[in-house]
Amino acid sequence: MNEKRSSVHGEWSSGLIFILAATGSAVGLGNLWRFPYLVGENGGSAFVLLYLACILLVGMPIMIAEVTLGRKGRRSPINSLRLIARDEGVSQQWALVGWMGVVAGVLILSFYSVVGGWSLFYGFEALKGSFVGISSDEATGLFEGLVADGPTVLLWHTLFMVILFSIVAAGVKKGLQRAVTLLMPLLFFLLLGLVVYGMTTEGFGEAITFLATPDLSVIDGGVFLAALGQAFFTLSLGMGAIMVYGAYLPQQNSIPVSSGWIVGMDTLTALLAGLAIFPIVFSVGLEPGEGPGLVFVTLPIVFGEIPLGTLLGIVFFILLSVAAITSGMSLLEPAVAYLTESFGGSRVKSAATMAVLIWLVGAACGLSLNAWSDITLWPGKNIFDSLDHVASNILLPLGGLFVAFFVGWKIRTNTVAAELDTHNHHYLFLLWLWATRVIAPAAVIFIFLNATGLLALISG
Ligand code: PFF
Repeated sequence: MNEKRSSVHGEWSSGLIFILAATGSAVGLGNLWRFPYLVGENGGSAFVLLYLACILLVGMPIMIAEVTLGRKGRRSPINSLRLIARDEGVSQQWALVGWMGVVAGVLILSFYSVVGGWSLFYGFEALKGSFVGISSDEATGLFEGLVADGPTVLLWHTLFMVILFSIVAAGVKKGLQRAVTLLMPLLFFLLLGLVVYGMTTEGFGEAITFLATPDLSVIDGGVFLAALGQAFFTLSLGMGAIMVYGAYLPQQNSIPVSSGWIVGMDTLTALLAGLAIFPIVFSVGLEPGEGPGLVFVTLPIVFGEIPLGTLLGIVFFILLSVAAITSGMSLLEPAVAYLTESFGGSRVKSAATMAVLIWLVGAACGLSLNAWSDITLWPGKNIFDSLDHVASNILLPLGGLFVAFFVGWKIRTNTVAAELDTHNHHYLFLLWLWATRVIAPAAVIFIFLNATGLLALISG
């Protein structure tokens, strides 16, 4: 009943490669694009505090739970959940959580690919030398001009999806693994360099105050929900991306240790991104609540001012695109693995089917910032923002909630303990188990109730 399955898709060649691939999934536009602008829009350090709390109390336990499910099931999230449920004698309807993840993946990747396209466009602009001596007004104009130009947005979105498709269709991640090994450290160093640059600017003090002096009065249900959604988004949790990567993790590697590295590297990158970007925002007199254009407006200004800025700009935006690609792959993988398993079809066909579907939804997102800006799906939000809100703030936390409940309450503790190999760390195991059973679900439910105003209603 509890026999070890092997993955039909192959395995990572080592635990280190898993950490790298999962860090590649986690570190992406969520850290460098989404985190800074959410901090800006949600009042600065109070948001950062809530985000860190969500990472620790909700993200870390669910990360371990997802990898455990993946390695136990060794299939796409849909089939892993179904097989584990069958082994454990519980309803196979749990596979629906995997389906929900596929839907969330499609929605996220569609707007993610649009932003990935912006990154590629900015790499090209850097190459043309467009940033040299650029003023803050011109940088704002460049971004607004891009977003308003539907055909250009579609062109770069298409290019991003084609790159992603070619990588995922190839299946074997050898080339990619090598690229990530080289490029992720480079991204990290470049970010450190930008932080050092930020320290020399006059806005640094203001940025530190903004990031580290919490004004708790700005916290409301919406800020809570945004912090929770960001914790899931940035760690790639709640939709099966980490689960499917866990399915390819060799048996002998430690799940908690790997998870600790992934969460640590991801959080550090987000904080560094904040430290790199806000000094510039304040130095050049931009608004922190600028919204989704924040990095695309601030960084060109720096690259336009500093020595070797053009070269650094090219490298940075290429790396941003690479970070987006390594995350995008993991958004695609659960669905592609499922299609490949189900229809015995080739990976190429599965990847092509998903890529076309996502391209279409992505095209609607891209157009929703210009020609279709009047269309709202979620009240008051255009298509792009609606998909982000529904997927990141609702579907991901809901997916995580179900995963926590399934691992914490539905699977026998012995099964989980065996997969986590907890012999020498009994107390740490218990800590994780209760965090998964109670703390993480309670936090998600509390934040949901709070955001919908139900909490206020219940407490009178
Ligand atoms: N974690 C990625 C980022 O921060 O950019 C985005 C992401 C990847 C979200 C995979 C969800 C996911 F399943």
